[in-house]
Amino acid sequence: MLRVVAVLAALAIGATAVWAQNAAGITARKDAMKAFGGAAKGPGGMAKGDAPFELPKVQASLKTIQDTAAKAKGLFGDDTKAGETDALPAAFEKRPDLFARFDKIGAAAKAAAGAIKDEASFKTEWPKVVSNCGGCHKDYRKPPAKK
Ligand code: HEC
Repeated sequence: MLRVVAVLAALAIGATAVWAQNAAGITARKDAMKAFGGAAKGPGGMAKGDAPFELPKVQASLKTIQDTAAKAKGLFGDDTKAGETDALPAAFEKRPDLFARFDKIGAAAKAAAGAIKDEASFKTEWPKVVSNCGGCHKDYRKPPAKK
């Protein structure tokens, strides 16, 4: 009997450890996504004319997007499927397509970083980067709850 209790206790500890790992993995993914959001915000305002164009800020954002896109591919492990996540099951079932999209936005950010020299080139190039956000969300992210 004691032995059974010990085994059950060990299992419970194991389950907790796995759960903690999931939660940390999901948090890391959401943090990466928040980095995308943060990177898109400043230049987004500039594109709309709400803020003055600032090349260094745009270049910093493009760098963040490249780094985040590369990192994101490591954040969709099987142990992060369930829990407090808005990632749809499809994200894990179609990883090659998901990862290709991260590669695509990374490449778009890199190309834009090379092409943007001034406000005019920014206005042409920036939309080519952020046009990659929505498509992936449509297929792989739960739509945000309507408020
Ligand atoms: C290749 C797919 C893909 C691309 C490209 C992508 N996202 Fe996401 N995004 C996701 C997924 C999947 C989630 C849900 C993550 C989760 O909840 O675990 C998400 C979640 C988010 C979130 C919510 C994070 C939170 O607080 O939970 C923000 C903000 C976001 N993305 C912004 C962006 C922006 C801005 C871009 C473009 C610069 C972008 N994403 C590009 C797949 C993508």
